[in-house]
Amino acid sequence: MKFPRISRKRFIVRAAVPTLAASAGVRPDFAPAAEQPLEERGPGPIPVSLKINGETHTLALEPRVTLLDALRERLGLTGTKKGCDQGTCGACTVLVDGRRVNACLTLAVMAEGKAVTTIEGLGSPESLHPMQAAFLSSDGFQCGYCTPGQIVSAVGLVSERRPTSDDSSIRMWMSGNICRCGAYPNIVDAIRKAGRHA
Ligand code: FES
Ligand code: FES
Repeated sequence: MKFPRISRKRFIVRAAVPTLAASAGVRPDFAPAAEQPLEERGPGPIPVSLKINGETHTLALEPRVTLLDALRERLGLTGTKKGCDQGTCGACTVLVDGRRVNACLTLAVMAEGKAVTTIEGLGSPESLHPMQAAFLSSDGFQCGYCTPGQIVSAVGLVSERRPTSDDSSIRMWMSGNICRCGAYPNIVDAIRKAGRHA
């Protein structure tokens, strides 16, 4: 019996896709086509269109540029902080389509076609977002470096409808946001307060 020739790589991809789709809870008929080649872009600068705080910006970026660097270095949105640059501190938290993400672990090209919200998009000095106002009234910061990420993450937590009435729950759902100054009791207090009015 004659078998068709198939490369080792193609064999592994073909074998893996149904298994991966099943384990991810994806119906096999919706699994991505194994041999659908992705459009190759880069490695030089390519046009990347980003919708940030309701405004669309088209930038020329290498595909390896992170969303964090695009925000800070190219758009001057320095409210989003770079702490660890490794996904462990939460200082760079932004919302992408309403979900919390670490901008240092997200490539800018991955945010194309999605709505990105940064701390600058939440309120203004004249009209603070309720979470910003709660952080102020609860004194939820010391040096303030972690504060934008904490506030954006807290806004995400409330919109995810996580419980905000008990401290341990708030601490658990905010556990990706580190505060080196240790302002945690006041941060938790602010989220509890803002959660009551959400
Ligand atoms: S800078 Fe992104 S998690 Fe620390
Ligand atoms: S207030 Fe200083 S790191 Fe949190």
